[in-house]
Amino acid sequence: MKIGILVSSKRKRIWPAEELKKTALSMGYKAVILDPAELTIVIRGKLIDVIHNRTRRSLIEGDSVFLLRRPDYANPELLFYRIDVIRALELSGKTVVNRIEAFLKAVDKIRTSMLLAKNGIPTPYTVVSEEEAPAMRAHIEFGISVVKPIFGSQGKGSVLIENIDSAWRAFRLHRYYRVPIYVQSFVEHRNRDIRVFVLGERVLSAMYRVSNSWKTNISQGAKPMPVKLTSELEEMALKSAEVIGADIAGVDIIESKEGPLVLEVNACPEWKGLQKVTEVNISEEIIRYVISKAKK
Ligand SMILES: Nc1ncnc2c1ncn2[C@@H]1O[C@H](COP(=O)(O)OP(=O)(O)O)[C@@H](O)[C@H]1O
Ligand SMILES: [Mg+2]
Repeated sequence: MKIGILVSSKRKRIWPAEELKKTALSMGYKAVILDPAELTIVIRGKLIDVIHNRTRRSLIEGDSVFLLRRPDYANPELLFYRIDVIRALELSGKTVVNRIEAFLKAVDKIRTSMLLAKNGIPTPYTVVSEEEAPAMRAHIEFGISVVKPIFGSQGKGSVLIENIDSAWRAFRLHRYYRVPIYVQSFVEHRNRDIRVFVLGERVLSAMYRVSNSWKTNISQGAKPMPVKLTSELEEMALKSAEVIGADIAGVDIIESKEGPLVLEVNACPEWKGLQKVTEVNISEEIIRYVISKAKK
């Protein structure tokens, strides 16, 4: 069985991709890191094939399974193309983990918030608009708000807005750059949240992320700490992954005074921090999971 790890760019060294490749090799599988930019889609008659540009070999032939990391893009057409490369693999019968649909749901914070809410999973009060006035009304109602990029991750680009002047400034800039304003009620969490790592239909592991500021991403300097999950939190995380359709998911949960709230579901979660506070070998579990999924 060969494992193709799909990354956004081979020029950057991406820790999870390198780690998965190393682990797959140590477990006796073949593994390659692939960039959708170096793959070609061939549509002929009823068949869809995906060809590697350099080796000119088909990725469809033989036993293989694919692990998706975040596809990168420079413009909308390229983004659609790279998404369609993954779709081509799926359409030709290959197992891709996560499925491209799950990735598309998770990467879009608006869609994630709506799906969580619609499925009865508590999530913070959120307003999204292209215009400043509705965003401003929401900010005034929230008192303190968090403004996030729709496609952001690792806490990058999210800002805490504590007064009306900063709100105006932030919302005007969104308008100027023609990006939607995603404004969310700030939930007091004492600089700590919970990251739950879901694999298949089970919680593989979880951790507290403890920070000295409001952003608790490990990449923003938060420290991983062990956590014992209640069954309520386990169920919440499993259901969140399920509504996104993700086999691999990093679910972010904050503990508010009114109870736990799911912030988002990551379909390409990292586990470097989590690995430090858990006994399960996460990389091995991921490889074992995708292999079993491909054999089904
Ligand atoms: N509404 C909120 N209230 C309080 N803290 C928040 C809120 N939204 C996000 N945060 C903090 O910012 C971090 C990053 O936000 P998140 O929605 O997970 O986006 P990202 O994709 O950048 O990780 C969270 O882990 C949390 O610590
Ligand atoms: Mg997050």
